[in-house]
Amino acid sequence: MRPDLQKAVVARVGDYEIRRCEREDVQAVISINMETLPEHYSDYFYYEILAEFPETFLVAEIDGALIGYVMCRIEYGFSHLKRLGLARKGHVVSIAVKPEHRGKGVGTMLMHASQDAMVAKTATESYLEVRVTNAEAIALYQRLGYASSSRLEAYYKDGEAALVMATRLGQ
Ligand code: ACO
Ligand code: ZN
Repeated sequence: MRPDLQKAVVARVGDYEIRRCEREDVQAVISINMETLPEHYSDYFYYEILAEFPETFLVAEIDGALIGYVMCRIEYGFSHLKRLGLARKGHVVSIAVKPEHRGKGVGTMLMHASQDAMVAKTATESYLEVRVTNAEAIALYQRLGYASSSRLEAYYKDGEAALVMATRLGQ
């Protein structure tokens, strides 16, 4: 492969490479989502986010196979950290790693790399929603500095509540 055609790796952890998602990757991302999460989206939703926010839509790859992704949006609205303030926010819409590749730092690296990309897009905070029973994900977010900012009752279709977690970015 010509070096200029090589896909730009933004981070590595072990033999895993983190790079930007491309259109050809979206079907594999959708498969990972179907396998790992109860929250699914239309194909259109993924392509739309990729078209609008390509910098913060990242995938993790090993030996040419996609095994994880993080998909984010940059939004402007009420801060989750300052009372009554407005902020540019990086919203982690969805993150997942295939079960057999968990516990190796891929999820952490996907989050770090997406946060770096949010900072490059001048976001000053990041937030996400997570099921109140998703202890593994909540622990990961806490290690990255996210703290719970509110709770949304019956946020998910099955009636479960979400924690909204947020962190400051860039300092
Ligand atoms: N070697 C071994 N273990 C490690 C390493 C390493 N190099 N690095 C980190 N770990 C440990 C961490 O300490 C952590 O352990 P602990 O949680 O038991 O204390 C654990 O591995 C997980 O950290 P990572 O490996 O960085 O994360 P992982 O790649 O396993 O991905 C994720 C975490 C994405 C939450 C995964 O569990 C997953 O896909 N879950 C299902 C989907 C899901 O729930 N997604 C989040 C929904 S909420 C949302 O999308 C906004
Ligand atoms: Zn969300």
